[in-house]
Amino acid sequence: MTRFTSLVTIFALAIATITLTTAAPVPTPTCILTIDELKAAANGTCPPQTSDEIISCEDALPYINGAITKYNLATRGQRAAYIATMLFESGNLKYNHNLVHATQGTRSMLPQPSLEKFVSANANIQTLVATYPADTLLVDILINNHLDFLPGAWWTVSGPNCPDRAAALDGTANTFLQWEIDCINGGVETLADRNAVFGVVYQSIH
Ligand SMILES: *[C@@H]1O[C@H](CO)[C@@H](O)[C@H](O)[C@H]1NC(C)=O
Repeated sequence: MTRFTSLVTIFALAIATITLTTAAPVPTPTCILTIDELKAAANGTCPPQTSDEIISCEDALPYINGAITKYNLATRGQRAAYIATMLFESGNLKYNHNLVHATQGTRSMLPQPSLEKFVSANANIQTLVATYPADTLLVDILINNHLDFLPGAWWTVSGPNCPDRAAALDGTANTFLQWEIDCINGGVETLADRNAVFGVVYQSIH
């Protein structure tokens, strides 16, 4: 009896193993931001209309959700860090270029060397960039192809020194500060402002 039970168990395990190895991959769970959450996260600063570099929250929403899904920003803290940094860096969705440095931009305002790291890590975008004349600014290629919401999302969890800090993001000011210092390194003088934005965003989303 014992032996029979064992055989049945082994057989069941074998079937389970086969089922597991042949089943379609389970899609990564994504957490889609709603327009009300984005508006609350922007703390009353949503641009009412899209024009030039300005994008309304309604028009930005699908791009933000696409970026969150594509780069698997799996936790609320990671999504909040991405959105807060983007809001802060883009003047609440008003800018796509740094007004002083033409090579710096996209919604999270990455400098060109960081945009280059982003492109290097994304083969399909690298292929796209290769179709442009060599003197075309990377920032403009990304913006013109509606890829301007992607670099910040990728960087949030996959940039240099970012994965460990991103994994620790739990909504507290301290983990955000550690992420910012090691992953974003954007200048000590703005930390308090950035952290305040992060707090509002984290409370506004799920
Ligand atoms: C959010 O908006 C309120 C009201 O305008 C303002 O007092 C507060 O400073 C804002 N918070 C942030 C983080 O910008």
